Amino acid sequence: MLKRTHTCGELGKEHIDTTVNLNGWVNTVRLHGQVIFIDLRDRYGKTQIIFNSDDYSDDFESVKKLSIEDVLSIKGTVQARGEGAVNPDMSTGDIEVMVDSMELLSETTPLPFVITDRESASEDLRLKYRYLELRTEELQYNIITRHKAYQAVRGFLSDNDFLEVETPILMKSTPEGARDFLVPSRLHQGKFYALPQSPQIYKQILMISGFDRYFQIVKCFRDEDFRADRQPEFTQIDVEMSFIDEEDIFENMENMTRYVFKEVIGTDLPDPFPRISYDKAMSKYGSDKPDTRYELFLQNVKQFTDMSEFNAFKSAECVKAIVVSGGAKYSRKNIDELTDVVKTFNAKGLAWMKMEEGQLTGGISKFFGDDLQKELISSTGMCDGDIIFLIGDERSVTEKSLGALRVEIAKFEDLADKNDFKPLWVTEFPMFENDEKSGNLTFLHHPFTSPTSSNIEDLDSDPLSMKARAYDLTMNGYEIAGGSIRIHSSELQNKVFSLLGLTVEEAKEKFGFLVEALSYGAPPHGGIAFGFDRLVMLLTGSNNIRDVIAFPKTTSAVSLMDDAPDSVSKEQLDDLGIQLKKKK
Ligand code: AMO
Repeated sequence: MLKRTHTCGELGKEHIDTTVNLNGWVNTVRLHGQVIFIDLRDRYGKTQIIFNSDDYSDDFESVKKLSIEDVLSIKGTVQARGEGAVNPDMSTGDIEVMVDSMELLSETTPLPFVITDRESASEDLRLKYRYLELRTEELQYNIITRHKAYQAVRGFLSDNDFLEVETPILMKSTPEGARDFLVPSRLHQGKFYALPQSPQIYKQILMISGFDRYFQIVKCFRDEDFRADRQPEFTQIDVEMSFIDEEDIFENMENMTRYVFKEVIGTDLPDPFPRISYDKAMSKYGSDKPDTRYELFLQNVKQFTDMSEFNAFKSAECVKAIVVSGGAKYSRKNIDELTDVVKTFNAKGLAWMKMEEGQLTGGISKFFGDDLQKELISSTGMCDGDIIFLIGDERSVTEKSLGALRVEIAKFEDLADKNDFKPLWVTEFPMFENDEKSGNLTFLHHPFTSPTSSNIEDLDSDPLSMKARAYDLTMNGYEIAGGSIRIHSSELQNKVFSLLGLTVEEAKEKFGFLVEALSYGAPPHGGIAFGFDRLVMLLTGSNNIRDVIAFPKTTSAVSLMDDAPDSVSKEQLDDLGIQLKKKK
């Protein structure tokens, strides 16, 4: 091998007339009679190399046979490009390398898809050949940006006295919201480890052990339904602090986020980050992670629909609306598609009216008399050419479905600027909610979150109205971090377990070690975890979490490259004392 003297992204005018060796992949080949132009590529960039049959000392015929993605090492002389050939879009666009000799280091077999054009292949095919997809400029950029983000986070936290501590991957199964991935134990047959949904309990115990400020960039595992921003294994920036309150968390985490955005992509974020309560976010945006890059607010219109002849909304707890500027252009088909969106959020339908020449027309407009129309128009600020969408239902259905509509319309109208970053703290979450399936109380964040009142009687009287000392950091419609101030009294922790329906025995069985640890002098503490993958999605402008993870899983939790999950041998199962049930 002609060992490289430079990378493919490095050569410029200052290297003219020097002899260099380059190693890399053939990115493109252009044949011009007896001259062959190749862009040679490595992680650092691309360099145009030229084989001219007149000057080339080796076998020119073998150069003609080179294919895209062959791996070469070449020796040549750097020369200035001719006037019209300078390429300002390439970092090496001022020069080219005239090749003297070449060694073919590795020949490729025909490729399953065109690497320079990701869209030419289905995602499944690209995931099967992930190593090829990772060669694309986009994914190289994403993975390099991810690397920069790790370094920025580590640097910032370490400089601010946070200690990096690793916590176990094999742990006890503890309910934290999602389903656990389980690992059977060979030495203790019939028993299972769980992979951590997060290191939540360990980091609290580290506070009890006196480490004061902890962080870890850590893999977490959750067996849940996957979406564009969710993976079964994902990475958190996990943080915990002692002797603090919410303001300390906000200040440190805002500083970290600002630092990361500045270091990695040179973007300044606001100082301070704005805040909104959960109730206000739901009522104004219909979401607990609102994208505030665009307006489109939910407006309360119940007083108007109550006065109209449109009876379907009369018994609804809450009627709200969104006015879309210029939306009168929407066709029946557009409206039907938007109706399908809100139906997935349990809305029964999507009512609408358009405004033309000062009048509401179409949809449910015939149920609104002239005066009522005027009042509705003036209250909502509608103008000619606008459309108003209305939903009436239980509050949560109305708000969540209009929240989803808002996002859909923003996509349709291209309202969100990709280069605009709008962080927003969401605070004052409810402590509990009613589980939709069982009707029992369940936690919104996790069972270790402190209620706003540590008064145990308050918790008993009306738990559903109790707020939690929990907060999320959202950005551009993503929840990028979530955390809380924790319960640090064993008595209050036991009370919360009992409200969540755990018997004393169950609580002891599952969390006894934590409750006991809390009884040996626990400092007031709290923390937060960032979804690191989501942070990198924002930094890279990706809208698919798989694009920022080197080896992701599909939405059905499969790794197409190495075929995980896979069956195991009978011997392996015997070792574990496991017998598989027959597949249904
Ligand atoms: P939470 O469950 O809110 O909190 O998770 C923290 C952040 O992790 C990200 N996240 C995910 N990212 C990708 N795929 C997933 N399946 C996934 N699930 C969550 C989100 C989320 O905001 N222990 C607590 C934190 C704490 O209280 O300190 C926890 O894990 O961006």
